[in-house]
Amino acid sequence: MAEILSLPTGNDKEEIYQAIVPQIKAVIGGTDDLIANLANVSAILKQAFDFHWVGFYRVTTPKTLTLGPFQGPLACIAIPFGKGVCGKAASEQKTILVPDVDQFEGHIACSSLSKSEIVVPLVHNGETKLVLDVDSDKVDDFNTIDQKYLEQIVQLIQLQNFSRPTTSQEFVPSQSAPDVT
Ligand code: SME
Repeated sequence: MAEILSLPTGNDKEEIYQAIVPQIKAVIGGTDDLIANLANVSAILKQAFDFHWVGFYRVTTPKTLTLGPFQGPLACIAIPFGKGVCGKAASEQKTILVPDVDQFEGHIACSSLSKSEIVVPLVHNGETKLVLDVDSDKVDDFNTIDQKYLEQIVQLIQLQNFSRPTTSQEFVPSQSAPDVT
């Protein structure tokens, strides 16, 4: 597995996404561990674009998002479905792109430096499992290119971690406790 991210020299957003998508696929293909994969995807997106905040919220209890792996400043821990951009994307099961967070009613300001935001939900068998949240410290920093590739990245996570039977992490308890006497 490549441990060094290979990035184009220029600043073209689409070129950067085109370079990182196959690398993300290779990296997350190496393990079925969801937390490891969310951590590495956050790290890759942070390194590639230096976003203000990038990370995941997972559905760990019904209708509530809980903070997962991320890169950036401290963040809110729990977000109910329907609240903020993340909760809305989770309940509506669609990507939400917010050019100016001050114009989004109910935006949850974990960081006062966040100015624009995009949230992509991962939906599996009709259920929201997690959301990818990316925040920028610039107004209007996201567009349909971000949406297209961030949705592809979330789909890769879905294929790797939700659509295949788990293998490596499956814990098969032994029939009886070992005899230590
Ligand atoms: N702004 C988000 C909350 C999460 S943080 O940005 C990390 C929202 O409105 O849901």
